Amino acid sequence: MAGKIPQQFIDELLSRVDIVEVIDRRVPLRKAGRDYQARCPFHEEKSPSFTVSPNKQFYHCFGCGAHGTAIGFLMAYEHLDFVEAVKELAKQAGVELPQTEETSERPQAEGLHEILAQANVFFRRQLKEHPAAATAIEYLKQRGLTGDIAAEFGIGYAPPGWDNLLNALGRTPTQRQQLLTTGMLVPKENDRYYDRFRDRIMFPIRNRRGQVIGFGGRVLSSDETPKYLNSPESPLFHKGRELYGLYEARQALRHIDLLLVVEGYMDVVALAQHGIRNVVATLGTALTPDHVQILFRTTGDVVFCFDGDRAGRAAAWKSLDIVLPEISEGRQARFMFLPEQDDPDSLVRREGATAFQTRIANAVSLSEFLFQSLASEVDMSAVDGRARLVELARPKLNKVTNAVYRLMLIAALAERVHMGRDELVRLLEDPTKPHSTSAARAKPRPSHREPPRVSAVRQALTLLLNQPSLALEAGDPGRYRGLQEPGVDLLVEVLELIQRQPQLSCGAILEQWRERPEAKHLARLARSPITTPETGMASEFLGSLRILDKLRLEHELEQLLRHGQTEGLSSDGKRRLAEILAEKDALTRGITQIH
Ligand code: UTP
Ligand code: MN
Repeated sequence: MAGKIPQQFIDELLSRVDIVEVIDRRVPLRKAGRDYQARCPFHEEKSPSFTVSPNKQFYHCFGCGAHGTAIGFLMAYEHLDFVEAVKELAKQAGVELPQTEETSERPQAEGLHEILAQANVFFRRQLKEHPAAATAIEYLKQRGLTGDIAAEFGIGYAPPGWDNLLNALGRTPTQRQQLLTTGMLVPKENDRYYDRFRDRIMFPIRNRRGQVIGFGGRVLSSDETPKYLNSPESPLFHKGRELYGLYEARQALRHIDLLLVVEGYMDVVALAQHGIRNVVATLGTALTPDHVQILFRTTGDVVFCFDGDRAGRAAAWKSLDIVLPEISEGRQARFMFLPEQDDPDSLVRREGATAFQTRIANAVSLSEFLFQSLASEVDMSAVDGRARLVELARPKLNKVTNAVYRLMLIAALAERVHMGRDELVRLLEDPTKPHSTSAARAKPRPSHREPPRVSAVRQALTLLLNQPSLALEAGDPGRYRGLQEPGVDLLVEVLELIQRQPQLSCGAILEQWRERPEAKHLARLARSPITTPETGMASEFLGSLRILDKLRLEHELEQLLRHGQTEGLSSDGKRRLAEILAEKDALTRGITQIH
């Protein structure tokens, strides 16, 4: 961790800045009750559902689900990475950044950005000036591109030869190192290098701020391979996190109400040539969760475009698994399949923009694609087939984290299999769990008058994130460790953290989980609406802890009694038994008090 910005610094920084101020400078906020509101900067909307809580130091949009801390906001709004966002906040708060590898790494990144910007200028100039460029220009024309569009996408030309770029830009050892690091040069023996891209049309890949982070290079003739050569992964370029064309789409459109995701560089550029500007491409890789998050941060309506052949269907099916966990009410994913033998480029050139737009408009919904595909594997006219469909759908539905969306999918499935929705919900409520072991079945279910068990941890965490100071009344959290309740270890950790650092805001707590898998879960709890009035929070919080304490005591009691049955109870055991019973009794009275 030596290279990282110390957590302590982040904590302190977040305690110095006010998220309301940070956001208000960029998106003017209006006070609404305890919170502040605005029209969401991350999606198109008419009435404000973007809410900033000064209390939690957290923002959340009820429309598109965007959420985060002051750091997260800067990352999303200004397209910064974590370190850049921290730097920006530190500047605003007037605090000095500690010198770490992570923060001093920046000058290096700046150098890399600079060299790639120069490389792009170089390639563009070659497209105009190099004696061999005529074939490249002819090639682009023949693919239907005008000079304007080529310029807008920064398209250039890497001339034939092994050292054009090397000679033009690699004059100093530092520059050569930068060209190597960004993959523009390929090393050979004895400290020598050669140009990676030779005699290729060059497509610069830009990040969301418009900086060039890599290139794709296409051959001019069909008999050379590979057809496209891409920059390798580098400190600036991570294929799985970049979408080709997103910067250009943002530049061309004020609002992006829909994004079309295609496969190729030329598809993006050709569609742009026909006036369809809301298009991005994954860079020769399968869709990743990062891609999907970026897409939905830009718009609520994403259409994935695939070839009409078997491979296209298979790719769509794979994408589905990546999309399902990210979807929610405000987010729509749709699928569009092209005629066989076509790609978006060939199709738009043949059919024109209007016909292509109609195809986009007719893209099938995720639910239709999902159930249609599954239904094609079973005999839908038979009861058995329909039952099988439900089973095939189960693992897919389980990937959906958003409760409302899950319910919507279940409703759609119910209609297909001729079942009542509620019946199907019950069937899908994971019947495998209670039946999986006989022990689980033997355990008496809590009586319906008790508050539901599963939610005690969740409830406690939700309240804590709303009012961290509650942790100070929790006693020693260590007593819950090892309790067989989902999420209890996380609860213990959060309690211990706040007890150590009671000044942390909800946002600052979430920042501590930034790189851990529980981050999402915590963020969800942080933004789940709370109905308890502030005055009732403490008693509700203590109530959920009491439920956990009761479980803890019951568990210990059970063990003690089991032990007693086989080996008899020692005097210590008997004393502990009396203590547990007394504690349980006190707890039960406590619970009845607050209900
Ligand atoms: P395609 O082969 O479908 O290319 O690859 P395309 O976009 O239709 O290209 P044109 O029309 O012949 O120019 C789709 C995408 O897959 C990646 C590229 O990102 C390409 O745009 N790819 C393809 C590679 O990275 N390397 C390759 O050799 C081929
Ligand atoms: Mn093509």
